[in-house]
Amino acid sequence: MSANNYLELAVETAEEAGAILLAEFDRPRQIRYKSDVDLVTQADQKSEAAIVARLQRHFPKHAIVAEEGGGQETDSPFRWYVDPLDGTTNFAHSYPCFAVSIGLEEAGEMIVGVVYNPVSQELFTAARGEGAYLNQKRIHVSKIDTLGTSLVCTGFPPGQRTQERNIHFYWEFTLRSHGVRRDGSAAMDLAAVACGRFEAFWEFGLRSWDTAAGILLVREAGGTATRFSGQPYAPGDPEILASNTLIHSEMQEVASVIEANPWPLP
Ligand code: IPD
Ligand code: CA
Ligand code: CA
Repeated sequence: MSANNYLELAVETAEEAGAILLAEFDRPRQIRYKSDVDLVTQADQKSEAAIVARLQRHFPKHAIVAEEGGGQETDSPFRWYVDPLDGTTNFAHSYPCFAVSIGLEEAGEMIVGVVYNPVSQELFTAARGEGAYLNQKRIHVSKIDTLGTSLVCTGFPPGQRTQERNIHFYWEFTLRSHGVRRDGSAAMDLAAVACGRFEAFWEFGLRSWDTAAGILLVREAGGTATRFSGQPYAPGDPEILASNTLIHSEMQEVASVIEANPWPLP
């Protein structure tokens, strides 16, 4: 099977899950707390159950890493990364920025990525070597080449209300750019870098299912995804820097200055 065949199945799966999220969006939410500010709703669980069931039906031997725990470990070189609802806090507050995120890795390399926002009906797709698309139209990262003229974005992991070092990064990048957005869905943030809305995205502490699909979108759209050190980013690494490539080294330099200096900087 080619990456494009897997992509087709991933799209069908994301669309089914998106329909579930939309139906749940219109109902009163049932919210549980995984920890202090880490929410989970019935929508996360219903969406994941549908995604995992479909993947298992088609690929019983593939490994599946799914946020709400419905996945399976196998020794297959194929591994699906499933975030059934990325942006749960937004969803719980009726803020319509959230997505289904489904990525497929083969032998350690991402080969398929789908990020689908069912409210805006934006379907971002990529297959390795085939480019990235938004609703079947080819997308590219932006051509802006200085941080000073860039719009960038970040996020804050749930459940960490104190000692949040990203506040320092937020502060510094805000002063050095056109602004920093914090939209509450890492998958949508990465998709937005891929289609040129943001020049860059960074975050600490994301999990593999948050980023697996999105990094393929960014790379296939001509962007770059690394750690702050410049080492290629792999799903689950402790921090991510994804950009349009052009401002990547400038972002890295600022990050290293922030890391090396007590906050706030002069
Ligand atoms: C969260 C979102 C958010 C990011 C958090 C993630 P969830 O995922 O991607 O933007 O800042 O770190 O945990 O919990 O809504 O699937
Ligand atoms: Ca997530
Ligand atoms: Ca989630």
